[in-house]
Amino acid sequence: MHHRGLPLTLLILMFINTSEETCTSRPHITAAEGEPFYLQYCPPTSEDENETDSIKWYKTSGSRGKVELGSSSSPRITLHGYVLEFWPVELDDSGRYTFQMGNYSYDWTLNVIGRSKDSCFTEKQIISKTVEVKKSLQVFCEHNYYQKVVNRTSLYKNCEKIENNKDPFLKKNAEFRDQGYYTCVFFLPHNGKLFNVTKTFKITVIKDRSNINPVLLGPKLTYVKVELGKDVQLNCSALLNEKDVVYWNFWRANGSDPNVHEEEGIRIKTSEGKWHASKILRIENVNENNLHFSYNCTVASEGGIDTRSFILLKKEDLVDIPGYVFTTGMIIAVLILVAVVCLVTVGVIYRVDVALFYRHFIGRDETLTAVVDEIHSLIEKSRRLIIVLSKSYMSNEVRYELESGLHEALVERKIKVILIEFTPVSDFSFLPQSLRLLKSHRILKWKADTSLSYNSRFWKNLLYLMPAKMVKPCRDESEVFPVLSQS
Ligand SMILES: *[C@@H]1O[C@H](CO)[C@@H](O)[C@H](O)[C@H]1NC(C)=O
Ligand SMILES: *[C@@H]1O[C@H](CO)[C@@H](O)[C@H](O)[C@H]1NC(C)=O
Ligand SMILES: *[C@@H]1O[C@H](CO)[C@@H](O)[C@H](O)[C@H]1NC(C)=O
Ligand SMILES: *[C@@H]1O[C@H](CO)[C@@H](O)[C@H](O)[C@H]1NC(C)=O
Ligand SMILES: *[C@@H]1O[C@H](CO)[C@@H](O)[C@H](O)[C@H]1NC(C)=O
Repeated sequence: MHHRGLPLTLLILMFINTSEETCTSRPHITAAEGEPFYLQYCPPTSEDENETDSIKWYKTSGSRGKVELGSSSSPRITLHGYVLEFWPVELDDSGRYTFQMGNYSYDWTLNVIGRSKDSCFTEKQIISKTVEVKKSLQVFCEHNYYQKVVNRTSLYKNCEKIENNKDPFLKKNAEFRDQGYYTCVFFLPHNGKLFNVTKTFKITVIKDRSNINPVLLGPKLTYVKVELGKDVQLNCSALLNEKDVVYWNFWRANGSDPNVHEEEGIRIKTSEGKWHASKILRIENVNENNLHFSYNCTVASEGGIDTRSFILLKKEDLVDIPGYVFTTGMIIAVLILVAVVCLVTVGVIYRVDVALFYRHFIGRDETLTAVVDEIHSLIEKSRRLIIVLSKSYMSNEVRYELESGLHEALVERKIKVILIEFTPVSDFSFLPQSLRLLKSHRILKWKADTSLSYNSRFWKNLLYLMPAKMVKPCRDESEVFPVLSQS
């Protein structure tokens, strides 16, 4: 039900539209001198307002004021109903025209312009039309108002009659060269005279809006490094429209090289409805002739062309700065590596000499602090270890002597220990447990405040504990305490 209403509505709309076109709704009108012309009041919509008997026409001009128009006003003017006709309109018809019917009136301002001397149409009366290339271009020479009286119609393009065009219309697929001014000339016989009315279209042909400007992918100029005798493939790819073409230009003035072949192209449709095309140029067994020649790939479309060039260069020809720098850098790096390896090798082989040279250079004297070794060698030469325990004489060296001697005495059993107590053993927390277990006769206690005589019990006990020796008349006390005297 709903669908049936639609064509009817359209029909009515079309009808109203055509009837409106013949009446003159625009208040400012331009007319061309010498052409038939008319003014038509747009009729009222209600029947009640149809008072055709009371219709009056007026012209208002500067010199003569408002004048009612009648059949006698001018031989060129005819009045019938809502229409005022001019056969033809002339320059002095310019002015203000008023249609009056009962309480209704309508005004137009008419401007008549002179005919162009060197053109078949008037610039100000042009209807502009834009057509996409390849789309239908139609120029219909039909006059809404005069069609009934037209006895002949001619079509002109840029003021030249289109020959062999019997029908007064043009219908074709637009090409760019179709662009121009199309003038329909309607010939109208009237009162024994032949008049003509023109209608001019300015046709502009534009690119297909759905078409893209095809582009070749990649840089405009590409240098390809090749080795002579090898094959090379130049890949040209483009994003283009369906009807665009991609091709290689590899022809020379004297033909093409026999080793150059253009392969069949590949086309893939993209998701956007465009095409991705690629075409390979295969150069077999590259020779000197192929070098330094510009192999061009072109994509051509209605909108124009795009070209990209490939030039083959011999690999040796390419001395590019980055490569040179790279090579130099590599050589320096290798040299440094070799030098480091040599230095390390020499150092390992001559390490003694190097160490001696270093010692000489630094001037260090290690003998000044080598105390521990000396103590050890002295202990090894001794047969008794006399330990004098006193709180005031305690240092790391003494502690070392003590431990080292105890090791000799108790582990190696080479020397015997004599302990002289100034302070009880239990007061020394650091003393090894073994010293506390020393046989009691090997511990001598010093109780006196001053030095005792040689015949005293203390010295006799000490002498007893020392190894036996021939008594000499003059004694050297240093022999009695060899360790203590030298430490
Ligand atoms: C149309 O009429 C004018 C005179 O009004 C005349 O000069 C012109 O040549 C005519 N055009 C054609 C195409 O006959
Ligand atoms: C107006 O009335 C006249 C008769 O008086 C008739 O001929 C004409 O067609 C009518 N016009 C309209 C638009 O109804
Ligand atoms: C056009 O009009 C002219 C002059 O009035 C007449 O001679 C000619 O036969 C007419 N042509 C047509 C096709 O009606
Ligand atoms: C050529 O290049 C296009 C796009 O970069 C690629 O899709 C195609 O596979 C290439 N053809 C060959 C033969 O390498
Ligand atoms: C390729 O293009 C370059 C620059 O546009 C031009 O100089 C050269 O002659 C062209 N080569 C061919 C084979 O058409």
